[in-house]
This record gives sequence, C-alpha cells and structure tokens, in this order.
Amino acid sequence: MAIDPKIMALKEEATRWRRDFHENPELLYDVHRTAASVAEKLRAFGCDEVVEGIGQTGVVGVIHGRRASSKVVGLRADMDALPIEEETNLPHRSKVAGKMHACGHDGHTAMLLGAAKHLAATRDFDGTAIMIFQPAEEGGAGGKAMVDDGLMERWGIQEVYGMHNMPGMPPGHIALRPGPIMAAADQFTVQIEGKGAHAAAPHLGIDPVVIGAQIINALQTIASRNADPLKSVVVSTTMFHAGTAFNIIPSRATLTGTVRTLEAAMRDLAEERFRAIVEGTARMHGAEVTITYSRGYPATVNHERETGLATEIARATFGDAAVDDNVAPMMGGEDFSYMLEARPGAYIFIGNGDTAGLHHPAYDFNDDVLPAGIQIWTEIAKARTAA
Ligand code: NI
Repeated sequence: MAIDPKIMALKEEATRWRRDFHENPELLYDVHRTAASVAEKLRAFGCDEVVEGIGQTGVVGVIHGRRASSKVVGLRADMDALPIEEETNLPHRSKVAGKMHACGHDGHTAMLLGAAKHLAATRDFDGTAIMIFQPAEEGGAGGKAMVDDGLMERWGIQEVYGMHNMPGMPPGHIALRPGPIMAAADQFTVQIEGKGAHAAAPHLGIDPVVIGAQIINALQTIASRNADPLKSVVVSTTMFHAGTAFNIIPSRATLTGTVRTLEAAMRDLAEERFRAIVEGTARMHGAEVTITYSRGYPATVNHERETGLATEIARATFGDAAVDDNVAPMMGGEDFSYMLEARPGAYIFIGNGDTAGLHHPAYDFNDDVLPAGIQIWTEIAKARTAA
C-alpha cells in the first residue's frame, strides 16, 4: 500500500513543523515553547480535547472517531532535545547554543502532529485516539511523570504505542520485536577511600588507583562469568577520577558507570554481583568503599499480542519486505518503558535512512520519513479502535 495522497499532502507542512522544532530545541521538562506549539496546533486541527501540563509539560490531544466504539488507543511522541552542540551547516540548524535535537524527537513530534491533523480531519475510525506528547525522555522520566499524573486512567487508554527513528535502517522501514526491545539503564558511582602515600613508598599507603583498576576488571566478570551466556548484560565504567601528581599515591578514587540489562532477573543479579565484587575487592586491600547504585529506566518490554498486531498493521501498510519483526534489542534506555508497564502495547522503530547516529552532533531527522510515520500512526489508530 502506498502512502495515502492526503497524508503525502501533509509532508511540506510537517517538514516546516519539524524544522521549527529543530531550530528551537528545549531540554527535559523545559519544553514550554514546543508544548505550547503542539497544543496550539492540536486545537487548530479540531481535536475534541487538548490538555496541557500532564506530567509537568506533557500535552494530550483527544480525537473521537466518526463511529462509536469503546476502544481507546494511545499514541506517544517525545518532545525534548539533548545538551549537545550541533555540528551541521543545515539551514534549520539549532539556534540555541549547546542544545540540539540529536535524537529526532523533533521528527517524532511532527509525525504525531501529522497523524493528529489527518485523524481529526477525516475521523475515519472508531473509538478514540489519544495523542500523547511527553517531555523529558532524555533522562528525566517524563513518560513516568505522565503515567503518575493519571494519563492512562483519565482518558481510559487501553493500549499504547511508541515510535522511534532508527538511523541505518532504510527510510520508512519498520522494525520491532516482542519482549525486551530497549534495556534497563542503571547508574553507579563508587568512592574508594584508601590511604595516601609517597609514590616511592606504596607499603605505607592503600592505593585506591590499583584497587579501582582491579574493580574495573573484576566487574567484567558479571557478563563473562555470572550471566547466562544467552542473556544480555553490559557493565561500562566510564569515569575513573583520582590523583593530583605523578609522585603521589592519592587517598581516594571515584569510579562511575552504567549497567544495562534486558530482563528483571538479570538486572537484580547484576546489582547483587556488582556490590559483592566492589565490596570484596576493597576489603581484600583494606580500603573503604561507598557505593551509590541508582536504578534508571526499566527495560522497555513489548507485549506479545500488541507487537503482533502492530507487525500485521505495518506489513499491510508497507509490505512484508519493509518490516522486520525480530530486530535485535538495543542496550540504550527508553522511558516509554513506564507506559508499557502501565498498559499493553509496543515500541517500534522507523528507519531514518543513512544519517549520522542518534545523539551524534551531525545527526538530523530525515524529513522524507514523515509521511510514512504519519501513515503508520494513522493505521494503528484505525486498526486498534475498530469496533
Ligand atoms: Ni530518543
């Protein structure tokens, strides 16, 4: 099935919206301009209800179909940008120093707006479509804030779907999988308290640098020796701070990093082993450690039934060759996970073509993908509200 000509006709306008968001990136919950623009557009499209301030700066648009049905489906886009300095010479490059839409949330917002405009104009569906625009996906748990604010109950949402662009995949192709599709992303800091000494007299001190190095190496045994080889866990120590001079053994060192897993049992095992390894290694050397281990977003777990339904819809819309229903999970985090904990649904990827990767300073959302994204949103709304 080709793109609906009415949706194709929205491409130019959706591109203008997308580039306007790109030029004016905002971070976390501070998406006031973006959210106001989204709400204004939803009202202009004739949405039946537009509510701002859900989960601080989230926006919800309600559209009733022409035919009655008790079915209510939620479609979600994220609105926030990243604290990155853009390195492109595009005419629509970021006008804000140090901020950039490097993850394509500008495109996600434009695609869902396009779907809202089309659905509100045609009303060619049953039941109710809820358009969800969330703040603070990039580390602020805006998705959780909206769920905690009663998003699902207030509008009676029964199923929820989320979509993210994927560089390196052909434009407009769809990829998804049942089960975990994005990882749980936890974070740690370890303070090692040793004993300072002259570098020439290590026997008089307790060297936190040597201890830190051993901890970093030993943590790799979580993946290689503790985890089932067929399950996923990645431990990355990304910062190691210690010392002030070449001839001084410092008294303390700090390690920081992240632990990523796809399943709850593996997440628990990784934390348990992490603590045992860090504490055991420190004790072996007579050092003290303080561990701060914070759990971030849970894994994004697609529900089997809804993923199957989304796969069928994508195949019927774009053809079998454009749909991969067994894509490898990604070890990045995603706070749509909280919405999938609250309601059944699926998180799907849409190809962004041959662009720079996500979170890269040369990344740009591919505007040619906008019509395909609007189309798939529209088809999901139609199929999942059918009486
Ligand atoms: Ni993103």
